[in-house]
Amino acid sequence: MRILGIESSCDETAAAVVEDGRRVLSSVVASQMDTHGKYGGVVPELASREHLRAIVPVVTTALERAGCGYTGLAAVAVTSGPGLVGSLLVGVTYAKALCFAHKLPLIAVNHVEGHIHAVVMESGERDRAVEYPALALVVSGGHTHLFEVREGFHYRLLGKTRDDAAGEAFDKVAKLLGFSYPGGPILDGLAPYGNPEAVRFTLARMKGNTLDFSFSGLKTAVLRWTQQRDLTHEIHTRRELLRRSPHPSLEDWLAVTPKTTLDLVASFQRTVIEELLRHVVASGEQIQARSAIVSGGVACNAGLRAAAQARRLPFPIHFPSPGLSTDNAAMIAAAAFPKFGRGEFSDATLKAQANLALA
Ligand code: KG4
Ligand code: ZN
Repeated sequence: MRILGIESSCDETAAAVVEDGRRVLSSVVASQMDTHGKYGGVVPELASREHLRAIVPVVTTALERAGCGYTGLAAVAVTSGPGLVGSLLVGVTYAKALCFAHKLPLIAVNHVEGHIHAVVMESGERDRAVEYPALALVVSGGHTHLFEVREGFHYRLLGKTRDDAAGEAFDKVAKLLGFSYPGGPILDGLAPYGNPEAVRFTLARMKGNTLDFSFSGLKTAVLRWTQQRDLTHEIHTRRELLRRSPHPSLEDWLAVTPKTTLDLVASFQRTVIEELLRHVVASGEQIQARSAIVSGGVACNAGLRAAAQARRLPFPIHFPSPGLSTDNAAMIAAAAFPKFGRGEFSDATLKAQANLALA
């Protein structure tokens, strides 16, 4: 049984065909990084326009690569939220039109649930299946959410960020230091060259729900650190580098980043990783988790993966392969399989919802 997945919630237009909930027959992702990079973040109006341009070729290519026509599909799954409403609308409208034209059932998928299913899908393949109850940490540019996942995919929200998402903190810190967008992968690449103990950041203890996160104070602390030293020259040099070559290599960035700044980057990254893992342990204990799932763009972070592996956690921790950590449509198709089994279909009234909650 094959499901076509479509994802357009932020700045990636993606389509994929998944078979039997676990085999990815094709996964196509058209990134808009070049469009938004020069603005240092996603510009919603430009994102919608780019999705409109990309949606038809991306879906066609996904079907071609899967060697599959519309008659070979059991359903079309689409991200209906959360995300940028104008971006979501492109995927939702196109999926509705496909279902109408080819008489296929339509399945609405929550983007955050998709990130969780990226791991569920792959862990089935690796025969190290996720055991329930599982603790799921979804960490991306838009989300830092902790869920309890019970058998049958029932979700309970345990904690979330009260301000910036972890990926957003990476992107904002990178931007203020003169690196390009998205900043997460750049800071992750530079962090091993700095001393993670050099700068001591303290994170505010949460009042109320102690499983909530807050990253805006850390971002401000980094800003204060830069203001106390004069970084104007090195930031200018990095911005110049970016003007000359839009995709600098790690070596290029290293050549224009002094040791003190590398120490800052390493210390910032270490603080974020510690905070994420501290929450994973605390919430895992609280729900007596039998496994943990970490997904979303920040799950690509090499330092986070290494720290999670090095630490003796009381349960196994699963990460998706890097290609399935960031936004993609295979995870959307995968999340649709249990819904197909339960007969949870949508119709032409399906709406794009910017603030769709999973639980
Ligand atoms: O899941 P995703 O592709 O889109 C959203 O749903 O937001 O995540 C993108 C986010 C960006 O903030 C990006 O900087 C961050 O994930 N990211 C990383 C890494 N790779 C991507 N953050 C830290 N380390 C990385 N290696
Ligand atoms: Zn995402």
